Amino acid sequence: MQPWNYILISSTEINEQLAWAADKERRALAIHYEGERETKFLSLKVEGLKEAPLTICVTCDPTRGGSHVLGRNSIPETDALSTACSIQNMWLAACAEGLALGWVSFYKKNDVRDILDIPPHVDPIALLSVGYTDEYPDKPILESANWEKRAELDRLIFENKWGGEYKE
Ligand SMILES: Cc1cc2nc3c(=O)[nH]c(=O)nc-3n(C[C@H](O)[C@H](O)[C@H](O)COP(=O)(O)O)c2cc1C
Repeated sequence: MQPWNYILISSTEINEQLAWAADKERRALAIHYEGERETKFLSLKVEGLKEAPLTICVTCDPTRGGSHVLGRNSIPETDALSTACSIQNMWLAACAEGLALGWVSFYKKNDVRDILDIPPHVDPIALLSVGYTDEYPDKPILESANWEKRAELDRLIFENKWGGEYKE
């Protein structure tokens, strides 16, 4: 299907513009929280666009290939899923190569379209920060900062039918 494009961004100036868009969105999202939760939300590190030497904007063109693309006829959003699979493959490859990759999704798509000259029908699915890291954390930051708890596997894996109890 290959609905994706990868825009490799090494320009400091463009990365600063992307960091501005992400920070604007982060501050806008704080409206969903109050009191302590708001303070905690604003203290979370959710992007490293200015620190990373490379940003990759991964896009998805839902019009590519016309209106009847095999695989997209039954479930239209398979184009976004295909794009997400390509990102996951690169995420794993980056770790295998000793690099680190951070997925940034805090932005308004139109801000990113404006900054990167992306046409209106193409979706900026992700901004990926790629670089070197001193450590690979054991857990996602949202978990170690006690923002979110990881669900128990036995609540996520079912046997035979939805809700069917899975026994190891
Ligand atoms: C669609 C998507 C969007 C994400 N957006 C962000 C983000 O904006 N900032 C961030 O720090 N991490 C982001 N992440 C990374 C997650 O917070 C998390 O570290 C990662 O997905 C691994 O945890 P998981 O196994 O629970 O998905 C994103 C991940 C996904 C899949």
